Amino acid sequence: MEYKGKGNVLKQGDMEKKNQHGDIQRYGEGGEMYKNEHPVLFPFGPPVYLDKIPEPIIRELDVLIDQLSGVPEFDASGQLAGRIKKQTHLTKHISDQVQECIIKHCDRFYRHINAGTPTDIPNMTTTQMQIQSIWSNIQEAREYNPPHSHSGDFSFVIYCRNDLEKYSVDRLQDNEYDKVHTDKEQTTQMQNYPLAGLIELQYGEPAWLNWTQFRHVPQRGDIIIFPNWLRHTVYAHYEPHHVRISVAGNVNIFGVNTDPGFKEQKTKN
Ligand SMILES: [Fe+2]
Repeated sequence: MEYKGKGNVLKQGDMEKKNQHGDIQRYGEGGEMYKNEHPVLFPFGPPVYLDKIPEPIIRELDVLIDQLSGVPEFDASGQLAGRIKKQTHLTKHISDQVQECIIKHCDRFYRHINAGTPTDIPNMTTTQMQIQSIWSNIQEAREYNPPHSHSGDFSFVIYCRNDLEKYSVDRLQDNEYDKVHTDKEQTTQMQNYPLAGLIELQYGEPAWLNWTQFRHVPQRGDIIIFPNWLRHTVYAHYEPHHVRISVAGNVNIFGVNTDPGFKEQKTKN
């Protein structure tokens, strides 16, 4: 059938088929309503890696943090984004065993991301990575880490202790700040979102149908790895005499261009 605008029809092979009379029929002319079997795509946004570190490695970190915390030479509290008093440089004292464990997880992450792409980069048989910097954070009640990003290529955080993990999220967030503290009716925008005790990775513009946050209540042994530029924040908790101890750091990947030109805009951590 002729119709006005026929000139707009592009010839795409799989948009056409022959009917039983041998006439060419375009998609939809035979009554079809759907074409793609899997029409929902998630083509945007960075990947995040979440796994566990073996207990012997966590124990080694426990001991190192205990040894170096409070030593003025290793005090990192003035050089990092966190509003946390007890932050300590570990870079010079980290063992080969701990480094190897972290790099193995980073390498596994890298390989998962690049699944299906050739790994035989010229002059390189395996991905070469190195820990650029590593430090510990002992976060006490009301201390927090404002939104920030890191240097390096991959950034990671490992949790050695979280006194809050014995509580349910509801119990954790049953505090005077996270609770709705007015009897007046609130709009959705005005509600208090419970945040205590969470680490939050942030990406993209807040908008309808846009997922912009990855929130996690950490447990001992967790490792989270993410691209260095991914903004993240750690919210305060309000439990006196409870601490959350994490080890964070940055990893360089050699021989892979990870710089699309915005590195100079980063807040250094
Ligand atoms: Fe951070």
